[in-house]
Amino acid sequence: MKKILVTGARGQVGSDLVIALRQRSGVNQVIETGRRKISDIGEQPIPYQVLDVTDNKRLEEVIEHYQVGTIYHLAGILSAQGESHPDDCWKVNLEGLRNVLEAAKSYQIKVFWPSSIAVFGANTPKIKTPQTTIKEPSTIYGITKATGELLCQYYAHRFGVDVRSLRLPGIISYNAPPGGGTTDFAVEIFTEAIKNNSYVCFLRPETRLPMMYMPDTIKAILKLMEADPALISVRSSYNLAAISFSVAELVAEIQKHLPNFTCYYQPDFRQAIADSWPTVIDDTKARNDWGWQPSYDLPAIVADMFAHLLDPQFKSFDDKYPKVLAQSAPTKMMYSTTHFC
Ligand code: SER
Repeated sequence: MKKILVTGARGQVGSDLVIALRQRSGVNQVIETGRRKISDIGEQPIPYQVLDVTDNKRLEEVIEHYQVGTIYHLAGILSAQGESHPDDCWKVNLEGLRNVLEAAKSYQIKVFWPSSIAVFGANTPKIKTPQTTIKEPSTIYGITKATGELLCQYYAHRFGVDVRSLRLPGIISYNAPPGGGTTDFAVEIFTEAIKNNSYVCFLRPETRLPMMYMPDTIKAILKLMEADPALISVRSSYNLAAISFSVAELVAEIQKHLPNFTCYYQPDFRQAIADSWPTVIDDTKARNDWGWQPSYDLPAIVADMFAHLLDPQFKSFDDKYPKVLAQSAPTKMMYSTTHFC
């Protein structure tokens, strides 16, 4: 049976996707790849290969060695990190995608590639953002994703490559930390709440963004990839939505679990990025074409995050967050919106 290759396998989405794929197909069917050295991986034996996706020869070598039939191409540089390293962002996000699509064309490989809400910009309708609308991204990350969507559509229509994509919102998860995005606050806030009982958020409290819990993300990716090709009418990338909440609403929900938790606000350059993105996405096309339906709302996400992060048996991806027990019941709910600037 042909193997499944995951690029960026140790990233936030990859870490959970690999678990789900291995549960379905078996450990040895799923080949993890990433830029980390094997000596840093530490959990042998698992199929893992060092792979920089900008190296097309190495990519082909791994594909041929394992007889790969499907690639989940997750390697990429996110929005905030991309602004610090625009050249790398362009190279990894676009040369990497082109290498994967070229290989998919040559070896008849099916591809999943994540796009993002970052393809939208300040001129896009913010509420119920339609599937087809103005895409004028302000970040280099958004530009690579908007271009990548066109590249996917081109390879699908011109060469018949079965490439499928989702415009992912911010993702909340506990297995692996996100790596340099504007929505990272929605994960950091949990680990800092447990560690320090406070968090300094780099976005203002009223900032509202489309978000999703990791189990919903994995469900969406697998459902899209398993859908009959005849149902896939969008070959650029599907709008995908679950919930939208403001930072203040997330803080309030966390305070139901950690009543003395305090959030301070110190907006930085990421505020402008967040302000350029939609608040609520219209994902009717995904729902109608292949039956997308999210499961988790904000209270369910927060409860499940704490259930995992506070479980004494829980082992986080790296061990830098000490586990402490939730505090005892509150005398009153506290809701801090202190501004430093
Ligand atoms: N989560 C991503 C970011 O913040 C958006 O796709 O960069």
